Amino acid sequence: MARRSLSFVLLLVSYAAASNSSAAISTPSASNSSTPVMTSTNSMTSANMSTSVVTTSTTSSMTSYLATETGPLTLPISQYSFTPFPTPTLAPEPPIFPATDPLYPPPVSADSMVVPDFAPAWAAAYAKAKAMISNFTIQQKVNVTTGVGWANGLCVGNIPPVGDFPGLCLQDSPLGIRDTDLVTSFPAGITAASTWNRALMRARGLAIGQENRMKGVNIALGPMMNIGRIAQGGRNWEGFGADPFLSGEAAYETILGLQAGGVQATAKHYINNEQEWKRTQESSNVDDRTEHEIYAQPFMRSVMAGVSSVMCSYNLINDTYACNNNKTLNDMMKREFGFQGFIQSDWSATMNTLSAVAGLDMTMPGDITFDSGTSYFGQNLTDFVMNGTITEQRLDDMATRIIAAWYYMHQDENYPNATVSSFDFYNPINREVNAQSDHYIIVREIGAAGTVLLKNEGALPLCKPKSIVLVGSDAAPPVSGPNEYSDQGGDPSGILAMGWGSGTNNFTYLISPYEAIQARARVDQTSVFWNFDDWNLAKAGNSVIGMEAAIVFINSDSGEGYITVDGNAGDRQNLTAWHEGDQLILAVAAQNNNTIVVTNSVGPLILEPWVEHPNVTAIVWANLGGNEAGNAITDILYGAWNPSGKLPYTIAKSPADYPAQLVTGGTAADILSINYTEGLLIDYRWFDAQNITPRYEFGFGLSYTTFEYSDLAIMKINPADYVQMDLIQNWENGGASPIAEGSSTALWLHIPAYRVTFNVKNTGSLYGGEIPQLYIHHPLSAAEPPSILKGFTNVEVSPGQTTSVSITLSRYDVSIWDVVRQGWAKPEGTITFSVGASSRDFRLNGTIPA
Ligand code: BGC
Repeated sequence: MARRSLSFVLLLVSYAAASNSSAAISTPSASNSSTPVMTSTNSMTSANMSTSVVTTSTTSSMTSYLATETGPLTLPISQYSFTPFPTPTLAPEPPIFPATDPLYPPPVSADSMVVPDFAPAWAAAYAKAKAMISNFTIQQKVNVTTGVGWANGLCVGNIPPVGDFPGLCLQDSPLGIRDTDLVTSFPAGITAASTWNRALMRARGLAIGQENRMKGVNIALGPMMNIGRIAQGGRNWEGFGADPFLSGEAAYETILGLQAGGVQATAKHYINNEQEWKRTQESSNVDDRTEHEIYAQPFMRSVMAGVSSVMCSYNLINDTYACNNNKTLNDMMKREFGFQGFIQSDWSATMNTLSAVAGLDMTMPGDITFDSGTSYFGQNLTDFVMNGTITEQRLDDMATRIIAAWYYMHQDENYPNATVSSFDFYNPINREVNAQSDHYIIVREIGAAGTVLLKNEGALPLCKPKSIVLVGSDAAPPVSGPNEYSDQGGDPSGILAMGWGSGTNNFTYLISPYEAIQARARVDQTSVFWNFDDWNLAKAGNSVIGMEAAIVFINSDSGEGYITVDGNAGDRQNLTAWHEGDQLILAVAAQNNNTIVVTNSVGPLILEPWVEHPNVTAIVWANLGGNEAGNAITDILYGAWNPSGKLPYTIAKSPADYPAQLVTGGTAADILSINYTEGLLIDYRWFDAQNITPRYEFGFGLSYTTFEYSDLAIMKINPADYVQMDLIQNWENGGASPIAEGSSTALWLHIPAYRVTFNVKNTGSLYGGEIPQLYIHHPLSAAEPPSILKGFTNVEVSPGQTTSVSITLSRYDVSIWDVVRQGWAKPEGTITFSVGASSRDFRLNGTIPA
């Protein structure tokens, strides 16, 4: 991609530094205090009507303890034989499957023969953890698993010191460190996903990881990887879009980056937390195949990235709460994926003490409801172990996993003490460590690379325009400083650079388009006008008459459900721009035939009112850019970065075209049923299957240059003899992967099995980047969607030049989940594939060799 000159960067840096010093800060603080109070014991009863009362062979002494167990009981406890999953490591065979320390992951590659093996690192950490807890009392071991309670420590979650173990600081958010100061606000997950660029995803993770380490955060509460099933989903922007493969790759790279930076990563929210409305009282009802092929994929990839921690979600899955779910926690996460780290609850998502038996290892923030002073773990867990209801072996496993994760990440070796104060912004400790480094560079680069050019009728890139007008409040700095609202939870008065909720942080500074474009105007000697009033349409129209270009900025916000903004209780009420942005665009386009639209949106918008207006000459889909948002947008507008971003979801012509809608309603006591009836057909898969034409399809994005694809070839890669040939043979013959520990993350399933090669030529006149995408088409009998993404990479090509591209596919990539055999298997029949520039722009087609 065309790079900006260093002097230009430096110019803007010095500007940023100057604006930083005057940044006004309102008083942000960790304020999930308005988080809906977790379901009380009584209101839960209806949710668990099918739940059987516990009957055990452990007798009378237990009864009194059971009285302390106030939540619903779902497991026959005394007979439950718990296996401390998993143990086996696949024989490491460098360089294909090298033993990997999380601090030194393999390099980024889309075509890698390397599948990292974290098992030896875990084994070493387990040995140390076991040694440490061997002297611990039951109470001490319980303390390792129990948070100190809401707002009782410096961090959003805190594990107290126990013996030689110094305790843990757990801190949001997925885009940077929450509730402190002198940190970077990175582009949101959805922006990172829109880059489709693994190196940038990794770099973002690494920079966030380094900042966490500098501030002494042990465990970063991210990345978030719930799938964008519903276009209105309030927290979609924290995650990586509507496709499991793209989300999985983004989760994988982000975690490798975070942990290389030194912090433990948390894969959240496991699982099926796809809407905010009634998130603590909804059952996501999902069939086993859909669960495996769609929603679990990013979590499985997280385990393959060696993730330290997983956070179970607030909702129920098929009528059982996520943090009390033996199937998803013990069987899928720990057995099938072979996860060796620990599972922590979302904040007050623990439902009872017996969740420990279902696979929960740590309760956060520790109390049953915020500030209740009670805990399902703590004394209750101690009692349950003392009376034999829960085995001490299981408690050992819980404490071992938590302490092992700390050793595994080498946090026993001079890890800094926490210097964040989540509940008191003015505590000087928040300014003790400046963690920002030069991370503005990566923020700006990802902001540009994560911007998608949707329409361009010759309007862009701007070339020394004589005059431009900036229209709309989204072009402006927020009126009362970058942190107008606690957790960004309010109607933004300026540029939208992140959504709201716990997935945010405080801006140390924020560059708006107004500031960045002015700096560029000085260089180009352009006459700049602006009009930030969204509501006076006549004034907006008048302001653009006779100008060379009118750039209209619109946005759309959403966030976490504990904050309601303008009637949006987390999820968006509709898919239209805020502040009647459609009207603003129409008013401007009526007066200026070079109207360029820039959007900052948390997710898809319906663009139909103006997308085909002849005077709308360009649409720049800028996502959420973090603290360099204005600079990144300016880089795109002026061609300092040739756009290469692609949509991580479909933009429909009508909200009704999407396969799934928000489920609302329900009384205070109801558990909503959310039936994932579309099954595998989420997002583009549905549009393809139903033959619905989207406005802009998944994977779409234009460039200032053009690319041509040619010379497709595919070859089978012969497995080396030592790679579990029996399992490969079994799979070749139609057999499914066996039911075993680590079966879904096994080496034979994930090493490259096919290599696809082709050429990409830059047929335009500008240097630029392209994202070639690979989609599989299964035979009809497999009952799969028409096309599913299974590969992508990024290339950069000079005009007239051709580059050769290689994408590998694993056996996993061409398998489907066989519900009956509970394993991954190759469907019978011919599997074909396409390579192209989007989910509907296929340029080359081939067949997977038998
Ligand atoms: C959110 C989590 C977050 C936690 C701690 C919860 O409300 O769902 O994503 O990590 O709070 O702030």
